[in-house]
Amino acid sequence: MQRWAPLSFIKNLFAELGKEIVNPIGCQDCHDPKSMSLRITRPALVEAFQRKGEDITKSTHQDMRSLVCAQCHVEYYFKGKDEKYLTFPWDDGFTAEDIETYYDSIQHVDFVHSISKTPILKAQHPDYELFRLGIHSERGLSCADCHMPYKSEGGVKFTNHKIQSPLNNIAGSCQVCHRESESWRWDFVAASHGGSFHAPLECARILGNSIERGEQARVLLSEILSKKNVKLPVQYPDISTKDKAQKFIGLDMEKLNNEKSVFLETVVPQWDKAAEERQDKMNLEYKK
Ligand code: HEC
Ligand code: HEC
Ligand code: HEC
Ligand code: HEC
Repeated sequence: MQRWAPLSFIKNLFAELGKEIVNPIGCQDCHDPKSMSLRITRPALVEAFQRKGEDITKSTHQDMRSLVCAQCHVEYYFKGKDEKYLTFPWDDGFTAEDIETYYDSIQHVDFVHSISKTPILKAQHPDYELFRLGIHSERGLSCADCHMPYKSEGGVKFTNHKIQSPLNNIAGSCQVCHRESESWRWDFVAASHGGSFHAPLECARILGNSIERGEQARVLLSEILSKKNVKLPVQYPDISTKDKAQKFIGLDMEKLNNEKSVFLETVVPQWDKAAEERQDKMNLEYKK
């Protein structure tokens, strides 16, 4: 339900609507409450495509899985000195140059630097625009493919709504398509906390090198497979669960778990006791 026409919504004062933004994002932002199908609730997105002659209310299901995100994760500006109508600057296209051309053509600047008097454009968060220009969009992926992967619980498969970095769940987000596991080179870059800033070129070099090595390994592997007359696709053992994988590599988990219990019950208490005695002694010496 639309409580305000877009213009009267925009004219409201922030202080007046503050109490409404306790839950800034809700189910209804992306879903029709009756049918639960995905829908667009932000007029600015619909209008931006309308100006390009596209009707996104007729989008494919896969496109909707990105367009719901494009309601917010985009570049925008407020059009008109008084009207300040929320507008997406995509009339000329989605690249940085296209958007700059558009802004120049309407002489829009976000602000003028008060000391140098330089007119300045401030980008918001052009995630959708940049995504459209990458390989994954070209191959037909949507935002939800990586950020909302399917999850199974109690036999029910559903869309994971805990939207976060896909790198927290590489198995669910990436390995659905990329069957290879994380390699040493990727880990070397990802495990460093500030690497992307401290040495971005070195990180890009390592990752580029890792992709190249992955390609070389594939070529070598396909040679070996053809020499051995292995039929493609290669049949893998069933390692879909931890239990099955442990059995496959020959771990006797019952024996190992028993040994672990004995260790926890006998050795660890001795360590704790020794540490406590040592600490007590140190405390006494300190007090002296
Ligand atoms: C940011 C957008 C967004 C928000 C907010 C959101 N969803 Fe979803 N939801 C999605 C997407 C994308 C899908 C996947 C749709 C598909 O591919 O069929 C989905 C799927 C679903 C489904 C279909 C079953 C499934 O798991 O695939 C249900 C039910 C659902 N959402 C319920 C909710 C509820 C309840 C809320 C609020 C608590 C909510 N959603 C909030 C984007 C959203
Ligand atoms: C109604 C606006 C809105 C919609 C729709 C929306 N987002 Fe967001 N998103 C936000 C805001 C606001 C934040 C928080 C930004 C912050 O904390 O600085 C955010 C944060 C995120 C983050 C970072 C989460 C983290 O762990 O910090 C990711 C990833 C993300 N969104 C992806 C998506 C994807 C994918 C979709 C579509 C399925 C989507 N968003 C739809 C507004 C939105
Ligand atoms: C092929 C997988 C993939 C697709 C598709 C994808 N993303 Fe991402 N996204 C990632 C990865 C990987 C990161 C980096 C996360 C990190 O550095 O921890 C990321 C980061 C982000 C972040 C920053 C999250 C943060 O924690 O700061 C946002 C926001 C985001 N994506 C939104 C989107 C939107 C919107 C779309 C669709 C227009 C999209 N993504 C499509 C994989 C994907
Ligand atoms: C739904 C399938 C799918 C998912 C999910 C997916 N990818 Fe991809 N990815 C592809 C396809 C298809 C390509 C293009 C391959 C090509 O053309 O050679 C690709 C390409 C790539 C490339 C090469 C990029 C380039 O510029 O050449 C990288 C790196 C990559 N993916 C990483 C990831 C990561 C990390 C994730 C998880 C966050 C992920 N992908 C999730 C399908 C997927």
